Amino acid sequence: MLSGGKGLRLRPFTYTGAKQLVPIANKPVLFYVLEHLAQAGITDIGIVVGDTHEQIRAAVGDGRRFGATVTYIQQEQPLGLAHAVKVSRDFLGAEPFVMFLGDNLIRDGIVPYVQEFRGGGMNSLIVLKEVPNPQDFGIAELAQGRVVRLVEKPSEPCTNLAVIGIYLFDHHVFEAVERIAPSLRGELEITDAIQYLIDHGYRVEARHLSGYWTDTGKMDDMLEANRWVLELLEPRISGHVDEASTLQGNVVVEEGAEVRHSVVRGPAIIGPHTRIENSYIGPYTAIDHDCVIVNTEIEHSIVLDQCRIDTGGQRIEASLIGRNVEISPAEMKPRAYKLVLGDHSKVRLL
Ligand code: TTP
Repeated sequence: MLSGGKGLRLRPFTYTGAKQLVPIANKPVLFYVLEHLAQAGITDIGIVVGDTHEQIRAAVGDGRRFGATVTYIQQEQPLGLAHAVKVSRDFLGAEPFVMFLGDNLIRDGIVPYVQEFRGGGMNSLIVLKEVPNPQDFGIAELAQGRVVRLVEKPSEPCTNLAVIGIYLFDHHVFEAVERIAPSLRGELEITDAIQYLIDHGYRVEARHLSGYWTDTGKMDDMLEANRWVLELLEPRISGHVDEASTLQGNVVVEEGAEVRHSVVRGPAIIGPHTRIENSYIGPYTAIDHDCVIVNTEIEHSIVLDQCRIDTGGQRIEASLIGRNVEISPAEMKPRAYKLVLGDHSKVRLL
């Protein structure tokens, strides 16, 4: 599983943390990936880590919680997905393996792909998803179920089948990653390694993913993932909801959380030890643990842990709010927005 990379598109979040740990419905993306791997019977998991290795290690530990044994593989620099395969060679040995990008979120898991690949006959299996904007992805061309060509971000795409972040390989991929050269952006590209396999007569097949998939590497996509994951949540009230509050639709209120004099309209999740008071929490909102939300309307948003938000009744929407953020009404004149924003923050004003 890959959890290195630069994460430039997710700044400012990635200044302080690994993008694979940004929570979707209050759970790090990486945890969903680990669960899918374990569910497919893959319990010997290597995690490729980069600069953020300490946080990844702290969050995942030895993997026991997921029923897996985790080995960390340090990648000194994010030199590409095929480079990540290269540095994992000792760990992988001659075993067939799944490479799963730690920021890709899918709904339905990988059991059928793993079963089919274990059945033998293929050197690689890639997973494809129809996308409306094929110009922005690696695109596959197929003939009789086999992949004949992969094209990175084609200006005139022949298909709308994007290669998503789940790949199965046997040991022949090591030959490929040794032979290919870095691309123009200086990375060893996995698409080039797969093209090498195709060009050298290895059998590369593809399957279509029918359920949800989101690459959470960009801001808007994180909100999209948060939407569809929240829709799948089973409602549960483990915290305290007072009589002056109303919960509508699928709502999770975690242990130690309090909802007072508020309306929570699901799907929404209120994390452990978070207090919601005199507020409206609208659909598709995930508030993580130990936050205090007072006099605020918020919907379609992700709020990380330990935030203090009081908008004085104003509404926030379609927002991603990092850890320990404080939003409060301006108490002194002049009446104006008073901002303390880190590099690469984005604010939309009324
Ligand atoms: P990307 O999202 O393609 O790359 P990135 O993480 O550098 O992000 P950005 O383009 O915004 O700067 O990476 C896909 C996944 O693979 C992601 O989970 C990070 C991981 N990765 C590695 O572990 N090693 C690498 O060398 C690269 C390029 C990515």
